[in-house]
Amino acid sequence: MTAVLPARRIDELRRFSRRPALTPAPPGAVSLAMGEPDFPTPPPVIEAAEAAVRSGKTHYADQKGLRELRAALASRLPAYPGRAWSADDVVVTHGATGALAAVVLAMVGPGDRVVIPEPAYSLYADLVVLAGGTVDFVPLGRDLHWDLDALAAALPGATMMIFSNPSNPTGIVHRKRELEALGELLDGSDVLVVSDEAYHRLVYPGHEAISALAIESLRDRTVYVQTFSKTYAMTGWRVGYLTGPRDAVDAAAHVHRTLNGSVNTAVQHAALAALDLPDNIVDTMVDTYRRRRELVIAHLSDVPGLHLVPPEGAFYAFLRYAAARPSEVIARELAERKVLVRAGAEYGPSGEGHIRISFAAAEDDLRTGLARIVGHLGAAKP
Ligand SMILES: Cc1ncc(COP(=O)(O)O)c(C=O)c1O
Repeated sequence: MTAVLPARRIDELRRFSRRPALTPAPPGAVSLAMGEPDFPTPPPVIEAAEAAVRSGKTHYADQKGLRELRAALASRLPAYPGRAWSADDVVVTHGATGALAAVVLAMVGPGDRVVIPEPAYSLYADLVVLAGGTVDFVPLGRDLHWDLDALAAALPGATMMIFSNPSNPTGIVHRKRELEALGELLDGSDVLVVSDEAYHRLVYPGHEAISALAIESLRDRTVYVQTFSKTYAMTGWRVGYLTGPRDAVDAAAHVHRTLNGSVNTAVQHAALAALDLPDNIVDTMVDTYRRRRELVIAHLSDVPGLHLVPPEGAFYAFLRYAAARPSEVIARELAERKVLVRAGAEYGPSGEGHIRISFAAAEDDLRTGLARIVGHLGAAKP
């Protein structure tokens, strides 16, 4: 019998990864587990893909992405003196996932240390493990914002720091002052910052999404990762992009084309159409998330045994519970009570004692699911 032995890094990934294989909600259950918009992709995007295919745009695209798309994306990046963005600064990727994989595999090697404030989107740590690097989890503060003292201790000598802003899973939005403080901490170091801004359009009243590219002390060391998935309800289209310091962009482009070749040509034409959508199409979706967020806050605030930092952006509520059971057990118990959520432990050690609730779900499902969660976890069962 032939021994079929995957590479050692696959053993490491399997040992380390807390990312569950996702399964559809069973009959009668409501899912508040998914990180994807429940809206359809706007029709002009679909029409552009269809027109592209019908007009013969069915061959390989430029390996860095359609020049037209890269130029359109570059023109929307924040320019500043000495920095005019061009198509050459942008790589179109297989979603933000492809961008993150490309930059981590391009810039992190065996033994390199990567700082990840946690709880964090679980893909980051898995990619670092795949690259042979070392994950250095730095717990967030109680308000789910950065603990800058802890970061100051961890960052010297690190190769990279990765975060999302607005954040999955915590729903917080980093403030300008926080980003500036990070830039000051990094002054004089070679740490590369990866700022995943997938949820940049989903920010709630009183909060503002400020890109790391707009912060003077961060912009020259930041690889900016973006996706069409969340803003335009295009998760299944698989299109994102990255930009940043040219050496990092070129290295990431090399990894991306090695792993993927070029991104689907018709999808890139659809992405161009998404950029031209009138603002009110995205605004209407954001407004719906805002109403759902209010529903979440109304259901989960002031419930004995539960503590919620109100979501500031994205479409997640990261709920702390008092019950003394691991979050993976709580997620299973909730699934038995027909509401699916994600265990906080998936997002790092400090996620323990939390569940992540996605409010990218229909209002009726949300009400039903929240009532089931409160019914099970409210008034802390020991
Ligand atoms: C913070 C964050 N980054 C990246 C992604 C992946 O995005 P994409 O669909 O573009 O690969 C997700 C998806 O949930 C996410 O939450």
